[in-house]
Amino acid sequence: VADIKACADVVRRIKDDVLLAVDNSFMSPYFQRPLSLGADICMSSGTKYINGEYESSELKSLQIALGAVPSPFDCFLCNRGLKTLHIRMKLHFHNGLAVAKFLESHPRVEKVIYPGLPSHPQYHVMQKQCTGVSGMVSFYIKGNKKNATAFLKNLKVFTVGFSLGGFESLASSPAIMSHASVPEEERKALGITDTLIRLSVGLEDEEDLLQDLEQALKAAVSGEFPSQNHPHPPFPGAEPAAPPTGSLGWGLRVSLFAALLRHSPMD
Ligand SMILES: Cc1ncc(COP(=O)(O)O)c(C=O)c1O
Repeated sequence: VADIKACADVVRRIKDDVLLAVDNSFMSPYFQRPLSLGADICMSSGTKYINGEYESSELKSLQIALGAVPSPFDCFLCNRGLKTLHIRMKLHFHNGLAVAKFLESHPRVEKVIYPGLPSHPQYHVMQKQCTGVSGMVSFYIKGNKKNATAFLKNLKVFTVGFSLGGFESLASSPAIMSHASVPEEERKALGITDTLIRLSVGLEDEEDLLQDLEQALKAAVSGEFPSQNHPHPPFPGAEPAAPPTGSLGWGLRVSLFAALLRHSPMD
């Protein structure tokens, strides 16, 4: 977590005509206002928390590749998303903190990275410059690449995907997904190991999220690697999680992820 005011002070001291730009996508303007902390330019992705949905991400990728500006429809989606930003951010914070605390006390988890936890090295910076924390939680699962993959495969409420900031909870392995193109040595230096898992905690019921993490961790780190046809037994004492009502059914998403893994460098 960068101390924006400290960065702005350093920039001012060194040179007057250097501009300080901040990517505020992970926080949204609801929790952090870089301009009031001394930044000159503040950017927020329009397809993450601002929007709150994932529907325009693919379109956005095409626009970046083609060099086009946001379409009127994307602008409409951002404008619509902004109307519920304050409500969504409060729940992202609530669920993100609950997930981070749960993972931090879990025996199958090595370490949690969440700026809303006192264990985060820049916790004091967050308290000083933000009014809350978003739903972005990272953690290192105990074990190795196989345990990380098994964890992702066993999730039922979280969807495997590397976008962020939407209503639906996502989980990803940065090493083989968002940061796969970063050379291995650089990934290691950045702490992006095979056991790092990134979560974008969404707006589902807190209990459903914690139960899902519990059952997936149990399946992943016990040494069991259940196949699609023989799913791991449900979380003890709980009903099996209901399939999500999103656009893709659970079965289809499992098949897609299984297909992805079959063609990933993890094999
Ligand atoms: C921190 C951050 N900023 C910006 C972006 C890019 O967002 P967009 O594709 O909407 O421009 C991403 C995408 O993952 C991101 O993680």
